[in-house]
Amino acid sequence: MRCKVTFWPSGKTVDVKPGTTLLDAARRAGVPVSTRCGGKAACFMCKVAVRPGSELQPMKDIERRKLCGLESEGIRLACQARAAGKVAVDVPKDPLRAAIERQLARQAEDDSLW
Ligand code: FES
Repeated sequence: MRCKVTFWPSGKTVDVKPGTTLLDAARRAGVPVSTRCGGKAACFMCKVAVRPGSELQPMKDIERRKLCGLESEGIRLACQARAAGKVAVDVPKDPLRAAIERQLARQAEDDSLW
Protein backbone atom coordinates (compact mmCIF):
# COMPACT_ATOMS: atom_id res chain seq x y z
CA MET A 1 0.00 0.00 0.00
CA ARG A 2 1.21 3.51 -0.81
CA CYS A 3 0.30 6.75 0.89
CA LYS A 4 -0.68 9.90 -0.96
CA VAL A 5 0.49 13.16 0.58
CA THR A 6 -0.68 16.49 -0.83
CA PHE A 7 0.91 19.78 0.18
CA TRP A 8 -1.00 23.06 0.09
CA PRO A 9 -1.02 25.78 -1.16
CA SER A 10 1.06 24.32 -4.03
CA GLY A 11 -1.15 21.25 -4.49
CA LYS A 12 1.91 19.09 -5.10
CA THR A 13 1.25 15.43 -4.39
CA VAL A 14 3.63 12.58 -3.80
CA ASP A 15 3.19 8.82 -3.27
CA VAL A 16 5.26 7.45 -0.39
CA LYS A 17 5.60 4.29 1.68
CA PRO A 18 3.63 4.09 4.94
CA GLY A 19 5.74 5.49 7.77
CA THR A 20 7.42 8.16 5.65
CA THR A 21 7.69 11.43 7.56
CA LEU A 22 5.90 14.44 6.16
CA LEU A 23 9.30 16.17 5.99
CA ASP A 24 10.68 13.43 3.73
CA ALA A 25 7.50 13.48 1.65
CA ALA A 26 7.81 17.27 1.28
CA ARG A 27 11.39 16.93 0.10
CA ARG A 28 10.37 14.32 -2.45
CA ALA A 29 7.58 16.61 -3.65
CA GLY A 30 9.95 19.58 -3.89
CA VAL A 31 8.04 21.50 -1.23
CA PRO A 32 10.26 23.56 1.09
CA VAL A 33 9.64 22.99 4.82
CA SER A 34 11.82 24.94 7.26
CA THR A 35 14.16 22.90 9.45
CA ARG A 36 17.17 23.68 11.53
CA CYS A 37 17.71 20.50 13.54
CA GLY A 38 17.64 18.10 10.62
CA GLY A 39 14.55 16.24 11.82
CA LYS A 40 15.38 15.58 15.47
CA ALA A 41 12.29 17.28 16.92
CA ALA A 42 14.50 19.97 18.42
CA CYS A 43 14.00 23.18 16.44
CA PHE A 44 10.19 23.36 16.15
CA MET A 45 10.56 24.98 12.72
CA CYS A 46 8.91 22.25 10.68
CA LYS A 47 5.41 22.90 12.01
CA VAL A 48 2.69 22.18 9.46
CA ALA A 49 -1.10 22.01 9.68
CA VAL A 50 -2.60 18.64 8.86
CA ARG A 51 -6.14 18.80 7.51
CA PRO A 52 -8.92 16.87 9.25
CA GLY A 53 -9.41 13.35 7.94
CA SER A 54 -5.73 12.87 7.15
CA GLU A 55 -4.41 9.41 7.91
CA LEU A 56 -1.25 9.49 10.03
CA GLN A 57 0.45 6.96 12.25
CA PRO A 58 -0.11 7.47 16.00
CA MET A 59 1.83 10.39 17.47
CA LYS A 60 4.91 9.54 19.52
CA ASP A 61 5.61 11.04 22.94
CA ILE A 62 8.53 13.19 21.76
CA GLU A 63 6.28 15.04 19.30
CA ARG A 64 3.41 15.33 21.80
CA ARG A 65 5.75 16.91 24.36
CA LYS A 66 7.07 19.41 21.81
CA LEU A 67 3.62 20.45 20.59
CA CYS A 68 2.21 21.14 24.07
CA GLY A 69 -1.39 20.74 22.92
CA LEU A 70 -1.09 22.35 19.45
CA GLU A 71 -1.93 18.95 17.96
CA SER A 72 -5.56 19.62 18.89
CA GLU A 73 -5.48 22.40 16.25
CA GLY A 74 -4.03 20.05 13.63
CA ILE A 75 -0.46 21.27 14.06
CA ARG A 76 2.20 18.58 13.64
CA LEU A 77 5.97 18.45 13.32
CA ALA A 78 6.69 17.41 9.73
CA CYS A 79 9.85 15.61 10.86
CA GLN A 80 7.89 13.39 13.28
CA ALA A 81 4.44 12.90 11.73
CA ARG A 82 4.32 9.77 9.58
CA ALA A 83 1.93 9.03 6.76
CA ALA A 84 -0.45 6.08 7.05
CA GLY A 85 -2.75 6.77 4.08
CA LYS A 86 -4.14 9.87 2.42
CA VAL A 87 -2.76 13.07 3.96
CA ALA A 88 -3.39 16.77 3.21
CA VAL A 89 -0.90 19.25 4.66
CA ASP A 90 -0.93 23.05 4.77
CA VAL A 91 2.64 24.34 4.74
CA PRO A 92 3.12 27.81 6.24
CA LYS A 93 5.10 30.39 4.33
CA ASP A 94 8.80 30.51 5.04
CA PRO A 95 9.17 33.18 7.78
CA LEU A 96 11.95 35.03 5.94
CA ARG A 97 9.98 35.09 2.69
CA ALA A 98 6.87 36.30 4.55
CA ALA A 99 8.89 39.11 6.20
CA ILE A 100 10.31 40.19 2.84
CA GLU A 101 6.85 40.20 1.25
CA ARG A 102 5.48 42.34 4.12
CA GLN A 103 8.38 44.78 3.73
CA LEU A 104 7.90 45.02 -0.04
CA ALA A 105 4.15 45.60 0.43
CA ARG A 106 4.85 48.40 2.95
CA GLN A 107 7.38 49.94 0.59
CA ALA A 108 4.93 49.82 -2.33
CA GLU A 109 2.29 51.43 -0.13
CA ASP A 110 4.71 54.22 0.87
CA ASP A 111 5.74 54.77 -2.76
CA SER A 112 2.09 55.13 -3.81
CA LEU A 113 1.67 58.06 -1.39
CA TRP A 114 4.16 60.19 -3.33
S1 FES B 1 12.96 19.61 11.80
FE1 FES B 1 13.42 20.43 13.74
S2 FES B 1 11.66 19.97 14.89
FE2 FES B 1 11.25 19.12 12.98
